[in-house]
Amino acid sequence: MGIEWSEYRQRREKLMEKMGKGTAIFRSAPTSVMHNDVEYVFRQDSDFFYLTGFNEPEAVAVLAPHHEEHRFILFIQPKDPEKETWTGYRCGVEGAKEKYSADEAYPIAELDEKLPQYLKKADRIYYHLGRDKHFNDVILSHWQSLMATYPKRGTGPVAIEDTNHILHPMRQVKSASELGMLRQAMDISASAHNRAREFVKAGHYEYQIQAEIEHTFRLHGGMGPAYPSIVASGSNACILHYIENNRQIQENDLLLIDAGCSYGYYNGDITRTFPVNGKFTGEQKAIYELVLEAQLKAIESVKPGNPYNEFHDMAVCVLVQGLIDLGLLKGDLEEIIKEEKYKPFYMHKTGHWLGLDVHDVGVYKQGEETWLPLEAGHVLTVEPGIYIGPDIKPAEGQPEIPERWRGIGIRIEDDILVTETGHEVLTAAVPKAIDDIV
Ligand code: GLY
Ligand code: MN
Ligand code: MN
Repeated sequence: MGIEWSEYRQRREKLMEKMGKGTAIFRSAPTSVMHNDVEYVFRQDSDFFYLTGFNEPEAVAVLAPHHEEHRFILFIQPKDPEKETWTGYRCGVEGAKEKYSADEAYPIAELDEKLPQYLKKADRIYYHLGRDKHFNDVILSHWQSLMATYPKRGTGPVAIEDTNHILHPMRQVKSASELGMLRQAMDISASAHNRAREFVKAGHYEYQIQAEIEHTFRLHGGMGPAYPSIVASGSNACILHYIENNRQIQENDLLLIDAGCSYGYYNGDITRTFPVNGKFTGEQKAIYELVLEAQLKAIESVKPGNPYNEFHDMAVCVLVQGLIDLGLLKGDLEEIIKEEKYKPFYMHKTGHWLGLDVHDVGVYKQGEETWLPLEAGHVLTVEPGIYIGPDIKPAEGQPEIPERWRGIGIRIEDDILVTETGHEVLTAAVPKAIDDIV
């Protein structure tokens, strides 16, 4: 299990094929977050990690396909036994070459001195401006110096081009080994949900359920939560990113758990909602059935060639028809959808790409009108919901919501792989059929 070093090399080669005479620069995440002298967990930058597998801070990777000697260069923190005693192992310059296959490696302090040799014959710099302001200034000042001498040298980068549009299409289609990592992240996430559901009972606090979940993540080798775990009982489930997790769970509550594990930086993202005491009220059951139907229909429409928005549109259509049937919306289906009068109940999109980032990189649209067609190797979430907040305000002209519906929040979320012939639900190990959760 894992990603072979040769795959990182193949990724760099593939990227370099698209770069022509450009030089690309990728910055690691800067350093661990410090709060009053205590260091919090370091999280590598996903682009940097995808291309290098290198998991230390304060590093820069340079790809210079046109350079005579060095095509892949790493600037890293040099070995320093005293500092390593405090802040952990560093692979050092030799390790960068041996383990990470850099053609050349330098201490990061030499960046300003050594970088220009990799830029001066490039026709452009590939770099993502906007992630790290301080480092933007470093790159811009190198660019300015090269531009100043361009007239006399006749070569140099005449433009800075973003890396996203050449790198992110690669990240968007997962390789076999990436799928292995994702499956592991999702299997651990599924085990955590299943364990938590057994543990849940009225009287427990939401944070105790969170503890069960996150315990399972680490127990199975996960790095921890892929995002802050949401354990939302009762009307807390109507707050999309509820992470306080400090309420005592009550007898007739629904409990919404949205939690996923990060495994080697690959992420699971699962939501389940179920009745704490094993019994739905009539209203809870009606909304649950509706969200489940919307999710199953949306998942059915995930197949290669279908435009990205289709599963969202499908979910919205099922949800709105259901809300009309229940008397919670009134009017014509198409008009309600067009005028977005369902939004007080359903205000988010039905999914997102999933991978090294939870909301993973990659475009959803190709131009204003055209949604990206799904393709084998895409991984996405399908996560419709209905949220009837205690203070829900219906859209103009829509009925007031009777008290008995208020406070119900339900979301069901699975992780889906697009396959050659359709799709695979990667998180099917967590039950969601009504008979399996009551
Ligand atoms: N838990 C974040 C999401 O579902 O998008
Ligand atoms: Mn989620
Ligand atoms: Mn999600």
